[in-house]
Amino acid sequence: LDKLDGLELPAAADMHVHLRDGAMAEVVTPTIRKGGVNTVFVMPNLVPPITTVQHCLSYKAKLQVLEPNVTFLMSLYLHPNISPETVIEAKKAGITGIKSYPHGVTTHSDHGVLSYEPFYPVFSEMERQNMVLNLHGELPPSAGEDITVLNAEEAFLPTLLDLHQKFPKLRIILEHCTSEAALKAVASCGPNVAATITAHHLFLIVDDWAGDPHCFCKPVAKTPADRRALLRTVVSGNSKFFFGTDSAPHSAETKRADRFAAGVFTQPHAVGYVIDALEQGVEMGVLRAEEITRERLVGFLSKFGREFYQVPGESGERIVLEKPTGAVEEVLQSEDGRLQVVPFRQGKMTWGVRF
Ligand code: NCD
Ligand code: DOR
Ligand code: ZN
Ligand code: ZN
Repeated sequence: LDKLDGLELPAAADMHVHLRDGAMAEVVTPTIRKGGVNTVFVMPNLVPPITTVQHCLSYKAKLQVLEPNVTFLMSLYLHPNISPETVIEAKKAGITGIKSYPHGVTTHSDHGVLSYEPFYPVFSEMERQNMVLNLHGELPPSAGEDITVLNAEEAFLPTLLDLHQKFPKLRIILEHCTSEAALKAVASCGPNVAATITAHHLFLIVDDWAGDPHCFCKPVAKTPADRRALLRTVVSGNSKFFFGTDSAPHSAETKRADRFAAGVFTQPHAVGYVIDALEQGVEMGVLRAEEITRERLVGFLSKFGREFYQVPGESGERIVLEKPTGAVEEVLQSEDGRLQVVPFRQGKMTWGVRF
């Protein structure tokens, strides 16, 4: 894999990020480019969630002040406040997507969806307006006594297929997919259904988060076979699958509490981690070095996501990969040191990326 050292690629597009607000946004947003990324799709699960066009636009303006050299694609949080009229207004305002969180499955999802049916008029209008529906694809525990974090994603797949059938022209993304079953379901759908894959799920299995709060996220990492399927998908060249880190920073304090928050923070090394993971995939015998071509990396990291979102090209900005020379920070912190956040694989060597 020495050939990757010095490899020039178009700047990456990270199609699923949590940038938060307040002090956390100030720590996290300036690390986007450090990770080799110049375009992000921003999640709306603030407190309170972003359910109005006005809130979304003022949030976008704050992010642009924190980092003027990144393109921020914005989203609303699917909520009873959102009507077909909101969809029309959002489209006019340049908002890209609407994210659906099932009720109670993850961070700040207590305003989430209980049933999709009441939103069918919203989905119809989204289809007409050519907006993207972003699905957090897990059934909540309330959906049945046999639902656990291990099968919640697979149990959601019939809902995905049903929505795709009812709204065939609606562009749908199954976010952060973690299981071989989900990869197969997405692959079986028409071209309007795609999926994002995170960097951390290319490393993790159940055993890693059982006991380590910094590896705990929703959906949780699954089996070794699921991990292998994700690694193979990244180098498959299938344009339905593209990069979305789901970088989800939480303060070190809340990560170390009795009940710790779900989310893995990967923003500052987004592209580096993917290269690290593919390298591990080769070492494990899951991938062959020849499969990691420039074309496949460009597709997964930069091209397929932009194409699905129909955003203009990546403006010609380039990044260069650099063989690991340094370790991931133990912690990132706010200027006053009061807010600390621990990145994924802290202390481990990682590929470097420079613009
Ligand atoms: C093109 C490239 O790399 O040449 N982009 C891409 O493959 N994602 C076009 C460009 O330079 O913008
Ligand atoms: O682990 C997660 N963290 N999964 C999500 O869906 C939300 C995210 C967050 O906002 O922290
Ligand atoms: Zn999610
Ligand atoms: Zn997320």
